[in-house]
Amino acid sequence: MDLKELERHWDRLGSTDPFWAVLTDPDKRNNKWDPEEFFLSGRREISAVLKYIGSRRYDLRKGKALDFGCGVGRLTQALCDHFSECVGVDISPSMIRLAEKYNSYGPKCRYFVNRASNLELFAEATFDFIYSGLVLQHMEPVYSMAYIQEFFRLLSPGGMAVFQIPSGPLVPAHPIFDSTFRARISVQQESLKTEAGKALTLQVTVQNVSSNRWPVCSVDKDGGVFSLGNHWLDGSGSVLALDDGRVTLPKSVEPQEEVAVQLTVNTPSRPGTYFLELDMVLEGVCWFKDKGSATLRLVVEVEDSGSGEQSKGDELAPDASRRATFVPSIEMYGIPKERILSLTYASGCDVLEAQEDFSGAPGWVGHRYFITKPGPETAGRLTGTLRGRPMALLSEVQALSQKLKENKEDYARNFATHAEQIRQLEVRTAGLEEQYAKQKIELEWLYRWIPVNKLARSLFFGRNLRKRLKEWLHFRL
Ligand SMILES: C[S@@+](CC[C@H](N)C(=O)[O-])C[C@H]1O[C@@H](n2cnc3c(N)ncnc32)[C@H](O)[C@@H]1O
Repeated sequence: MDLKELERHWDRLGSTDPFWAVLTDPDKRNNKWDPEEFFLSGRREISAVLKYIGSRRYDLRKGKALDFGCGVGRLTQALCDHFSECVGVDISPSMIRLAEKYNSYGPKCRYFVNRASNLELFAEATFDFIYSGLVLQHMEPVYSMAYIQEFFRLLSPGGMAVFQIPSGPLVPAHPIFDSTFRARISVQQESLKTEAGKALTLQVTVQNVSSNRWPVCSVDKDGGVFSLGNHWLDGSGSVLALDDGRVTLPKSVEPQEEVAVQLTVNTPSRPGTYFLELDMVLEGVCWFKDKGSATLRLVVEVEDSGSGEQSKGDELAPDASRRATFVPSIEMYGIPKERILSLTYASGCDVLEAQEDFSGAPGWVGHRYFITKPGPETAGRLTGTLRGRPMALLSEVQALSQKLKENKEDYARNFATHAEQIRQLEVRTAGLEEQYAKQKIELEWLYRWIPVNKLARSLFFGRNLRKRLKEWLHFRL
């Protein structure tokens, strides 16, 4: 999805079931969240994060804070308890309208709609603290990486950005045979008639009709996440929405065993006859259909809800036929930790901590990153940056080695085509390795030579020493 599509989907979610779209607890669907409980979850999250930062003895200034992807302000309001000024930014106007409605801090808290792929509406070094939770995972990495880079620009020296993003789905540790992707899916309902733009809940039975176990990671350490999902097709069988409802299987499933699950789907916004296709998916790997398993296709008659809902929020729809059948969805993406670390170090920032995190969605693993921007006042921050530079090199070496490994299998099969490419990769990897080793040795020697605090002071106040170090370390300080 590009940003325009993203806005359209989130704006529809913000105008139909906003709290659930933020925290997708299946029991809270259809506006069942109690606002008090919802906002309390935000206060708990922010308190825990600030407590952790305190425990690391990081002296965080409590001036201006930014909540990126603020939704209805669950976390922005919580930040207001701790910072003197707070700003929430979101791509969805309907979310921002609600955030303003729930603002209980007056002008101390301000909200903005931002449709751009950057955060140019704010000047460099504006914020002491930037927070983002459950946001970066819902957009293509090309966008999330650009926003993260913007966080670093917006931080004031000595400031901190804390954001959560998955690195990917928990995929099985061992390959799964194609013949394992075989399911029989059945529902109780014989015919389905429902209203346009509404949630519809189905009782579904899924049977494992393969001769292998489906290993689920919550039970089998090396397993994956098996879910039941659905697609919407129009009367001619063309796909309208590939990702809609999802329910993960609670346990591993033996051959021939059946599991009962409840799947909630969102009906198209315009009356008509549609196909609802149910299929199993091994998250991060494949849909079962792509491996030859039969799906269940149900005919669904969608009737006018009489509420005039279908046109709401659709002014961004690219054309009339899509407007007719819009089903909002929430996509998931991950970014490997190494890429986040490389971006951080390349921007001159440090990683205080990358905590393992499972909050993104069931079956997704990632991190909550605590990133600091060096300020002149503490030695710790400065030396962290110095250490960061070889780390950035190390990440690049690791990424290249991985590429080399993957290509080598292909290499054996396809010698002539890839020989030159492989040779270049090998040369580049070796070069980087050498550079990394050199910088690391130099830094270790340097730390032994001058006590860290003295070093920091000299770097800022002793011009000659600074000049000598600059030449010696071969990079800009
Ligand atoms: C799951 S909600 C999380 C809301 C909030 N961070 C919280 O945890 O309460 C995701 C939010 O990210 C917003 N969002 C998605 N893409 C965005 C983008 N490119 N820029 C700003 N906000 C975005 C959505 O509109 C939505 O409000």
